[in-house]
Amino acid sequence: MQETLAPMWQSLRGFSPGTASNPNVEENMTQALKGKLALVTGASRGIGAAIAARLAQDGASVIVHYASNPARADAVVKEIRDAGGEAEAVGANLSQTGGVKSLIEALNGAFRGRFDGRLDILVNNAGTVEYGPFLDSSETSYDTHFNLNVRAPIELAKDAAARMVATGWGRIINVGSAFGEAAPLPGVTLYIASKFALRGFTRGLSRELGRYGVTVNAVQPGPIDTELAPQPGTEDHATMTKLASVGRFGKPAEIAAAVAYLASPEAGYTTGESLTVDGGWIA
Ligand SMILES: NC(=O)c1ccc[n+]([C@@H]2O[C@H](COP(=O)([O-])OP(=O)(O)OC[C@H]3O[C@@H](n4cnc5c(N)ncnc54)[C@H](OP(=O)(O)O)[C@@H]3O)[C@@H](O)[C@H]2O)c1
Repeated sequence: MQETLAPMWQSLRGFSPGTASNPNVEENMTQALKGKLALVTGASRGIGAAIAARLAQDGASVIVHYASNPARADAVVKEIRDAGGEAEAVGANLSQTGGVKSLIEALNGAFRGRFDGRLDILVNNAGTVEYGPFLDSSETSYDTHFNLNVRAPIELAKDAAARMVATGWGRIINVGSAFGEAAPLPGVTLYIASKFALRGFTRGLSRELGRYGVTVNAVQPGPIDTELAPQPGTEDHATMTKLASVGRFGKPAEIAAAVAYLASPEAGYTTGESLTVDGGWIA
């Protein structure tokens, strides 16, 4: 096996991004989004916080959206600014249409209106889940899942798409789930239904916006260590860990890396894609 691969490795020698052969690669990678305005929903913690930090690291000015916890959003903003990036926090409850509207209105004044109503990157990350058998689910469970996981991303994408079409460039990235592709476990039926819906929306919208220079993609995380997922030490955490080919939960930064690729100018030929980042969880 090693003998067969040896010539390939040899031919790859010397091709090392950021080395003497191409000293600018690293700089370009970290500033690829300079001058772009990004909105990341649910960025006060977990995956969204990691996405906000990563896009800021790549040069974007980032709106750190939160729902209920301004202190945590402020901490994310501070972390980004301390690292030399640009960010500001905006609060809105996206489970309610009024909250979506207020977030949209805030876009025009973002960064003191410097972007003049433009929005270049929308990351629909905020989401929620209720665990338990479907037959025991509450009357409001459908609304809980679909208002935040489906309706809010659709309404935000509608507004964002108009802004992006006007400039001829844009990136809409929906954070779905491996549960939007398969149903490896019971007890999350409405969550699965909502994430399948988000994947369908991603694909449909990509068909409509591609011609305007706007790509629409999804990143579908597997189990990631955040407050939303089963906590370490629980039976559910152990069960989910066993399903992953890599034998562990993922880290928020590993999802942020996938989002960063889809947000980058390099990803202009990728659209309608749902990139599953799950350690082989549903392989
Ligand atoms: N963690 C996983 O294992 C996993 C796996 C697959 C997919 N995902 C998806 O990844 C996304 C992020 O998940 P996460 O694990 O990072 O979640 P998380 O740690 O629970 O964070 C959720 C974020 O969403 C915000 N949020 C909650 N309710 C909201 C509402 N009504 N309106 C607006 N924002 C609201 C929260 O803001 P506040 O803090 O201000 O309340 C917080 O910033 C979700 O779409 C989730 O479905 C997660």
